[in-house]
Amino acid sequence: MDDTMGKAPGLSRRLTGYGDPDFAQFLRNAFLKARGLTEEAFDRPVVGIATTESEFNPCHASAPSLIAAIHRGVTMAGGLPFTFPTISLHESFAYPSSMLLRNLMAMDTEEMLLALPLDAVVLVGGCDKTIPAQIMGAVSADVPALIAPVGPMLAGRDQGERLGACTDCRRLWAARRAGEIDDARLGRAQEHLMPTHGTCMVMGTASTVACLAESLGFVLPGGSSIPAVYSERLRFGERTGRRAVEMAVAGGPVPASLVTPAALGNAMTVLQALGGSTNAVIHLAAIAGRAGLVLDLDALDQVGRKTPVLVDLKPIGRGFMEDFHQAGALPALLRHLAEALDLSATTADGRSWAEVLDDWPDWVDEQFIRRVDQPVAPGEAIAVLRGSLAPNGAILKRAAATDDLLRHEAPALVFDGLEDLQARIDDPDLPVTPEHVLVLRGVGPVGGPGMPEAGSIPIPRKLAREGVRDMVRITDARMSGTAYGTVILHVSPEAAVGGPLALVRDGDVIRLDFPTRRLDLRVAEDELARRRGELEVRRIPSRGYQKLFAERVLQAERGCDFDFLCGEPLG
Ligand code: FES
Repeated sequence: MDDTMGKAPGLSRRLTGYGDPDFAQFLRNAFLKARGLTEEAFDRPVVGIATTESEFNPCHASAPSLIAAIHRGVTMAGGLPFTFPTISLHESFAYPSSMLLRNLMAMDTEEMLLALPLDAVVLVGGCDKTIPAQIMGAVSADVPALIAPVGPMLAGRDQGERLGACTDCRRLWAARRAGEIDDARLGRAQEHLMPTHGTCMVMGTASTVACLAESLGFVLPGGSSIPAVYSERLRFGERTGRRAVEMAVAGGPVPASLVTPAALGNAMTVLQALGGSTNAVIHLAAIAGRAGLVLDLDALDQVGRKTPVLVDLKPIGRGFMEDFHQAGALPALLRHLAEALDLSATTADGRSWAEVLDDWPDWVDEQFIRRVDQPVAPGEAIAVLRGSLAPNGAILKRAAATDDLLRHEAPALVFDGLEDLQARIDDPDLPVTPEHVLVLRGVGPVGGPGMPEAGSIPIPRKLAREGVRDMVRITDARMSGTAYGTVILHVSPEAAVGGPLALVRDGDVIRLDFPTRRLDLRVAEDELARRRGELEVRRIPSRGYQKLFAERVLQAERGCDFDFLCGEPLG
């Protein structure tokens, strides 16, 4: 082993507090021997590998082989790998919402990074909330960290049609609700919607966040899009392990040094050019908050106005992550965006983005990674709205909305929470027209609780059967990154804390004026004041994590993090 390897504190770091460090080291070494290690291993740099493998997390089913590859890379580079578990979150196996538990996972990650004797860590994640939670925890712990995404699934195929989770899950479900396909067709498609291990393979939240993690310098260049089942994913794992040993020895870079205003600016540009998930806005805000920064929503909107959507993937476009990867992956996209980026930002392999792009192959498949003069959409993938209904902001995925609905003034039809929605949305007597603005409230960070992905309110069945495919919908919830429609999300402040959304009544006129980014409730102020006086005091859960969550969670524009976990404001 290289002599420099001995300089990392490794297994003598963070000794258990017995008041006798020599005894603590003696005891630790005894346990290491009990694990089967010889003393020759003890002075190596230690790389922790955080596994989020769980049988309740199908997206991470390939994690064991990826972890074996990372392990191999660490060992090959002279390090000592230790795999350890943290919480694992999967979208379909987290009641009532994985978002409720993201902060718990971030705390788990942070505290384990601060408790274990490791010099660097590789965090293996992928399913929507996992990578954001891992970055949040890593930034707060400020331990040298790399992310190894498990990688996306390959696309499926049914009856000659390429299918992908979960955009086509939603599309086919909507078609079934509208009576356009039968249960047999839906059942056949279900067999092929997720044909391999990995994360959802459209540009949903998991794909978007993995790409943003790469742009921020947490994932080795080109690594966010490698499909989970490619052998390339394992070679990436091995390289990640090797790089983690370099970082363990060097003592950095540390995560907080990567989350700079310039890197966040790059991430905003990448998010817009990807046509990425609206959920990434919340996660970016939370990551920024951990570094003492505030994500500027108005800057995000401005970036959107000048950044064309260049990646032609579902749900906005046609392709899947395997197409993006084979088209040249994130570095090819960054090259197209170079003029708008700060290429001095650090990548996960230690070089600047300028140096990485100098070496990256020239070839790019412009079907899937378009040139700036031939975009999928001219811009405004994600827009930020404000107005009397959303004083602190709301988000619209413009690129997934219907043009004709972007200027719309119509009466509201209000649903109070998911039970009300479920009870009435398919009622044949629901007093709704295609022009109505559907409002779903009480499902924000506090009200949800945890801001579930319920925002893409289904089109009422009676309208769906008449062929209505989109309506203006407004909510304090989120929606899946794989969903689409004219859905105004993340309305802040949310209804549960007395935001204006709580004051809306059936028949009130709501005006959306997208060109001016306005969202307004057309009700007189004295009437709103009267209604405000009638609002019920919200109930806080009496115990446990949900009590902590309700009392300390911030609103969407601050990333729904806990107030006490944000970093010290910088500058
Ligand atoms: Fe895991 Fe989509 S459900 S990434």
